[in-house]
Amino acid sequence: MNIIEVANYEEMSKASADFILKKIKGSEKVTLGLATGGTPLGTYQELVKDYKKNETSYSHVHTYNLDEYVGLTPDDPESYHAYMCEHLFHPVNMPLEQTNIPNGAAPELLQECLRYDMLIESIGGVDLQLLGIGENGHIGFNEPGTLFSTSTHVVDLTLSTLEANAKYFKDPSKQPTQAITMGIATILKSKEILLLASGERKQEALFHLLRGEVTESVPASALNMHDSVTVIADSQALKLVN
Ligand code: F6R
Repeated sequence: MNIIEVANYEEMSKASADFILKKIKGSEKVTLGLATGGTPLGTYQELVKDYKKNETSYSHVHTYNLDEYVGLTPDDPESYHAYMCEHLFHPVNMPLEQTNIPNGAAPELLQECLRYDMLIESIGGVDLQLLGIGENGHIGFNEPGTLFSTSTHVVDLTLSTLEANAKYFKDPSKQPTQAITMGIATILKSKEILLLASGERKQEALFHLLRGEVTESVPASALNMHDSVTVIADSQALKLVN
């Protein structure tokens, strides 16, 4: 695992945007797996800055998001669809027909999981998967105890995840308690993985990922079974590791 230590969130975001831009600029067609939440926001802001300055083209970029809340329609302002449109897709003029996010409002959720998994299977896994990490070591919304063999599935979010994400909801009582997420096996199909972590709250999860055993009780530890993972983390997040 390649570990890049940076000073803070800003530096993490710049380094991660540079990493992604190298992929975008260096290929005729590129498939990116994308994450939401607080961690990648700065990265997306850096990509938007770059777009405004250099007019980097996204016409050859295809995207596959990790997850979406169950019960939120794509136009719900609190959905991950809306997040991606606001923070990345619209500002960089990404062709929307080349973006893919699980549909959390699909009438048949199991069928939706199967459709999404087959989509990723059909491209042989994404070229570069961007990941954050939950305080309990989740990646995507694969909570502790998830089998490493799982493909895209519906999850019941744990209390720890619900509490950590309540801040993203205007009315936390409307926060969905389930999500559709790429499974660990789906994530591990990616050709390359970039995991970001910033801040004290991620210390333990990062310690388990980098120093702990590979165990289904820490979903991120599965990344030790992949041969092309880069972690960009700030000193706060790496405190227990150093
Ligand atoms: C988001 C996702 C989650 C987050 C994780 C960390 O698409 O899959 O695994 O990466 O919950 O969230 P933040 O970045 O808000 O600390």
